[in-house]
Amino acid sequence: MLLLRDANTPAAVIRREDYSAPAFWIDTVHLSFDLDAAKTRVLNKMTLRRNPDVPAQALRLDGDELNLARVLVNGAGTSFKLDAGQLVLENLPLEGSFELEIFTTCAPAKNTKLMGLYVSNDSFFTQCEAEGFRRITYYLDRPDVMASFTVTLRADKAKYPVLLSNGNLTEQGDLEDGRHFATWVDPHRKPCYLFALVAGQLVCREQRITARNGREHLLQVYVRPGDMDKTEHAMASLINSVIWDEARFGLALDLERFMIVATSDFNMGAMENKGLNVFNTKYVLANQATATDIDFANIESVVGHEYFHNWTGNRITCRDWFQLSLKEGLTVFRDQEFSMDLCAEPSARAVKRIEDVRVLRTNQFPEDAGPMAHPVRPDSYIEINNFYTVTIYEKGAEVVRMMQTLVGRAGFAKGMTLYFARHDGSAVTCDDFAQAIADANPDSALSKLLPQFKRWYSQAGTPRLATTTHYDAAAQTCTLSFAQSCPATPGQEAKEPFVIPVSLGLVGASSGAALPLQLQGSSAAASDSHLFVMTQAAESITFENVLEEPVPSILRGFSAPVIVDFEYTDAQLLTLLANDPDPFNRWEASQRLALRCAIASIAADAVTTGTEGLDDATIAAMRSVLRHPTLDAAFKELVLTLPSESYIAEQLDLVDPQRIHAVREAMREQLASELAADWQWAYEAHCQNGGYRPDTLSSGRRALAGLALSMLCLAARRSGDTVWPGKAYQRFKDADNMTDRFNALSALVHTGHALATPALARFHSLFKAEELVLDKWFALQAGCTDRGGQVLPAVRQLLKHPDFNIRNPNRARSVIFSYCSANPGAFHRTDAAGYVFWADQVLALDAINPQVAARLARALDRWKKLVEPYRNAACEALKRVAAKSDLSNDVREVVSRALAD
Ligand code: BES
Ligand code: ZN
Repeated sequence: MLLLRDANTPAAVIRREDYSAPAFWIDTVHLSFDLDAAKTRVLNKMTLRRNPDVPAQALRLDGDELNLARVLVNGAGTSFKLDAGQLVLENLPLEGSFELEIFTTCAPAKNTKLMGLYVSNDSFFTQCEAEGFRRITYYLDRPDVMASFTVTLRADKAKYPVLLSNGNLTEQGDLEDGRHFATWVDPHRKPCYLFALVAGQLVCREQRITARNGREHLLQVYVRPGDMDKTEHAMASLINSVIWDEARFGLALDLERFMIVATSDFNMGAMENKGLNVFNTKYVLANQATATDIDFANIESVVGHEYFHNWTGNRITCRDWFQLSLKEGLTVFRDQEFSMDLCAEPSARAVKRIEDVRVLRTNQFPEDAGPMAHPVRPDSYIEINNFYTVTIYEKGAEVVRMMQTLVGRAGFAKGMTLYFARHDGSAVTCDDFAQAIADANPDSALSKLLPQFKRWYSQAGTPRLATTTHYDAAAQTCTLSFAQSCPATPGQEAKEPFVIPVSLGLVGASSGAALPLQLQGSSAAASDSHLFVMTQAAESITFENVLEEPVPSILRGFSAPVIVDFEYTDAQLLTLLANDPDPFNRWEASQRLALRCAIASIAADAVTTGTEGLDDATIAAMRSVLRHPTLDAAFKELVLTLPSESYIAEQLDLVDPQRIHAVREAMREQLASELAADWQWAYEAHCQNGGYRPDTLSSGRRALAGLALSMLCLAARRSGDTVWPGKAYQRFKDADNMTDRFNALSALVHTGHALATPALARFHSLFKAEELVLDKWFALQAGCTDRGGQVLPAVRQLLKHPDFNIRNPNRARSVIFSYCSANPGAFHRTDAAGYVFWADQVLALDAINPQVAARLARALDRWKKLVEPYRNAACEALKRVAAKSDLSNDVREVVSRALAD
């Protein structure tokens, strides 16, 4: 694909097969910064040598938006040229090390892309992954060049009292003119994407800990002075992370000092810079008054995630950016396991797994089926920032999870140990990782099937697993037949069969009992669950001594990232929902029941035929889950939540978003009114939680009470009842925590009740000084249930609100993304106004921050599935964006792929 940026400069496609080792190594780097918002001076002194394995050639250093003042080689001036942003040096010594000194300046205050060195709230921050370091100085900006860094920061002492960088503080002191300095030495070699500096007025919570191995560490969480009361949870999460990585994988903290710093201007969630993690405030700051249970849980997993990168990412890093899933997929897997291991009850583990799978299926499956589909290890890209995707992250984590399933938990830990023994301190590939896990488990299925297993890295698309069963009552056998297939994806027409670990069981159709599994031809003792490792396009297995007609429970725990096609009858799904010992498949049965009703209603033109909605048996099953004496509240909340509009859309070949919205809303109203008495019971039984703690059990109770309240307000909307909206308003005013307060507010806002207006006003005045809470206030309104098109005008008003600021990514996301990417019922309008708005915002954001703009651009990825008039209108909007000649590579890549045939 040749993508034209303008007539003269086609954007370059980077290909994995073109990888070659660097021509030079950088051994040491000494960076000196004279920090100044308007003009920061950077002196970069490096020692380099040629890579003897590569033919002698010029040194080409990456740079972006830098002003070059001076270049010295071994202290003397030298000739150089600038070529397409790179600094090119031809006449370098052929033998041995040499010193290269580069003096540049940059303008942090003007850096709206938030890549490289930038200013946020009068402090300095850096973001270097993936290719931001080249915006700080000329360098070999690639992850396989690892160097020892020493950093000296100089700045005005009153304005920037805290000066931080990676590693250990070795020196600090005062300078003339009210300035001061600090020198930091990182004891570990690292690629430049892990470099960080922070300077500003910050305060920190700190804690000293002694690790199992007796080593002492200083942990610090730096925030703005008013935010100290929101740092306790992040610190607790960090301590839990340190303990967990040592206990589960034997990986100890390798630093004397580990720092987390929060900033409110951040493109992503957080960044794992060595010893100096930089976080979006959203994933650090929390107390019960300002953060919801979900915020608390997210903070725990993001703190864990970045901490776990210290080994999986930093100690062993990626050879090139095509290997991104090597660190991201693995580290997501690790943070998922961490959150699960912190759950006190097994049921909470299952809830976490369901939530993770829901993210995969509602976000990654569509990506895998759309124009941006790519393998877990992509073959090419134009802008690497566009490849920090749910495929690299979430599907990558599933690939690692399948390896663990194939070698067992202990085998996986052994594999990790071998991976570190082999590769610690180097930059490696996904092949190296898979090889280590397999080699540590030579008798495992993974080891035997490794080349085939690795198709998960190279083939894009979500495989489908078509399944049928045959029960022979006379012979008492049950045969399950599987056929796998994978749809074509851009650039990949035909796919080879995958290795699919299918965890399964049989549940008695009439008894509901878990049937013992006796595999035909196997002498192994019968078990309740079986792991079938599928490798062929079509295969079947037979179980013997099946005394009763069984219902198959397929893909337990979601043991592979595939779509299971099985023609369940309603009765079979009801059996699984009531009896499956696997909580994942129990939840899955509820989703299939609801999905099937939704799809039937959408197809049947339900509004006219009156066949809309959930059938009586499904309603009754939902009721018995809701009233169940022993099931967890969190699990109940998941079962009683209908599949999202975007998940429903993914099941259809032709998508009418308004129809999906109308059908799902009708189903919600039906659940609300038919279960009214049950919701009332659920609310009353779960709304008192005693003192606030964000643990899984009490979060689950709050989540269920919140759902119940929203259902009660929804039913009230229809009946005209004022009692429940009144109670919701009262709850909103009296709640002692943000979860309950926000749930009550949402119930009023989504039902469009008159009390929503005063509640929103009150919420704003209560929290006008809390930017993260204001983000919620904006997001709630932009994500509000549409009733006749009122949301878009409201969103346009929000953009004019004095608290709106498009330059702040969190605020832009809270309004623009909440509307375009998370509110399909309001975004897809027959008058195309949603798409016009989208195009305007993509273009506006692109001029400020292309990385954020490109994420928004993806809101129309699936336009080809839309029915008219949406399809044509979406295409026009995409073309309007694509027509802009000075579009960033980021947005250009996304819209070109969307428009490609
Ligand atoms: N390494 C990434 C941060 C990053 C992402 C840098 C994209 C450059 C471009 C970090 O480890 C990460 O993955 N952060 C996630 C959150 C995480 C919990 C999945 C993020 O920022 O969304
Ligand atoms: Zn990460």
